[in-house]
Amino acid sequence: MDYLQINRVNSLNGKIKISGAKNASLPLIAMTILAKNSVKIKNLPHVADINTLLKLLSNLGAECDRKSNPEITTVDTSSLTQTKATYDIVKTMRASILVLGPILARFGHCEVSLPGGCAIGQRPIDLHLKALEQMGATIDIKAGYIVATAPDGLKGCQIIFDKITVTGTANIVMAAALANGNTTITNAAREPEVVQLCEILNNSGVKIDGIGTAVLTVHGTSGKLLDINEFSVIPDRIEAGTYLCVAAISKSELILTDVDAKHLGAVLSKLEEMGSTFTITDDTITIHPSDIIKPVKIVTQEYPGFPTDMQAQFLALSTQASGTSIIEERLFENRFMHVSELQRMGADISLNGHVATVNGGTKLSGTDVMATDLRASSALVLAGLIADGTTDVHRIYHLDRGYDSLEEKLQNVGADIVRLKE
Ligand code: UD1
Repeated sequence: MDYLQINRVNSLNGKIKISGAKNASLPLIAMTILAKNSVKIKNLPHVADINTLLKLLSNLGAECDRKSNPEITTVDTSSLTQTKATYDIVKTMRASILVLGPILARFGHCEVSLPGGCAIGQRPIDLHLKALEQMGATIDIKAGYIVATAPDGLKGCQIIFDKITVTGTANIVMAAALANGNTTITNAAREPEVVQLCEILNNSGVKIDGIGTAVLTVHGTSGKLLDINEFSVIPDRIEAGTYLCVAAISKSELILTDVDAKHLGAVLSKLEEMGSTFTITDDTITIHPSDIIKPVKIVTQEYPGFPTDMQAQFLALSTQASGTSIIEERLFENRFMHVSELQRMGADISLNGHVATVNGGTKLSGTDVMATDLRASSALVLAGLIADGTTDVHRIYHLDRGYDSLEEKLQNVGADIVRLKE
C-alpha cells in the first residue's frame, strides 16, 4: 500500500493545472449508456473512481478506450448486453449507482448491488428508488441487489425529492431521458456537475427545461437512443478549492489554470473572509494569501452553498487561523473523521455533534496519520505541508479515488512530498 511522506517547506509557488471534475465525469460516463453512438470524452481525470466506472461498463460489455489517445476516452455502449452491476465493483465506489437509471431506461431491467455502508455516513439511496418507482419501475431487493424492472419502459411523472440529492438527480434525469412523456423533478440538485449532464443531454436530443434551477423538466424520447457529440468535462471545483487551501495555509501565491471560478463562489468568498484575495480570468485563479488567516464560520450546504466536499480542507486551514472558527456539517452525519487525526498533529478542535469548534493558531507537528475518506485525506496533506517535521499520510487509496496526480502537482510548485510503499 502507498503512503505520502510530506516535509514542511517555507513556501510554494507556481502553477497548478486543474483536472476534469470527477463528480461530473461519473454521471457523464454513465450517460453514454443512453447513446447509440460511440461517445468521445475529453478532460477525464486520471483517478481511480473513473477507472472503476469504466471497468464496470466494460464488464457489462461496453468498449472503453483510454489508451489509444491520452486526451480522449471513447466509450461505446452499443455492445453493452449485461444489466447487472456486481458487488465487487459497487463496494469500491458508491457512485456505481449512477448506472441504474440509464440501464433501466434502455433495457427495461437492471440489477445493482446495494452499496452498503460508507465511512462518512449512511448515504441511503431511497430517493433514487422511490423516483424510479414513480416512473413505473418495479423495485425489489433480492440477496443484496436492487432489482429494477420496467419492461414497457419508464413513464414521465412529477417527482419531488424530499432532500436535494446530486447523484439522485443525475440518475433520474438519465432515466427520464428515454422515458415516455415528460418528467418534472422538483428540488433538483443545481451542482455544476448536474448542469453539465443536463446541457449535454439537451444538446443530444433530450429537451430539458430549467437547467441550473431546482425544477427540471425532462422531455423523454420514448426509448429513442441519443446521438451524443464529443464533449469536455468541466474543471474539478473541489480539486481547485483544495489547492486554494494549500496556497492559503502555506501562505504561498499559486496560480490555478484550467479552472472555472464561477463554480467556486462559496469557496472563494470564505477564503476572502479569511484574508486571501484573488486575480481571476476566464480560466485561471491566482490566489494572494494573507499573512494572518482570519477565523471563519462555515455551514455546509447544497450548491450554491458551501460544499461539504471542502469542509475537511477548510477545517485544516482554520487550525492556523488567528481565532476560533465554527464549522457545521449539515449533509453527512459522520464527516469529521479527519478531526482526530488533526488532533494527533496538535490541532485544538472540539466536536459537538455536527459542529466543530477550531481554536486556531496551534503549531502542528508531523506524525503518522491515516486517511479515512477522500476529502479527509486532503485535509491531512494540507496539515502535513505546514507541520513541523515529517508527516506520513497512510491509506492514500482514498486520495487516489479523486485527486489526479496530487503529489506531482504539489512537487511542481515546490512541495516536499513523495509517494512511498508501506
Ligand atoms: C455527491 C457527491 C459527493 C458530495 C455529495 C454532496 C458524486 C459522485 N458525489 O454524493 O462528493 O459529497 O454529493 O454534495 O457526485 N440522501 C438520502 N437519500 C438518497 C440520496 C441521498 O437521504 O436517496 C441524503 C444523503 O444521505 C445526504 C444528502 O441526501 O445526507 C445528500 O446526498 P447526495 O447529494 O445524494 O450525495 P451523493 O450524490 O451520494
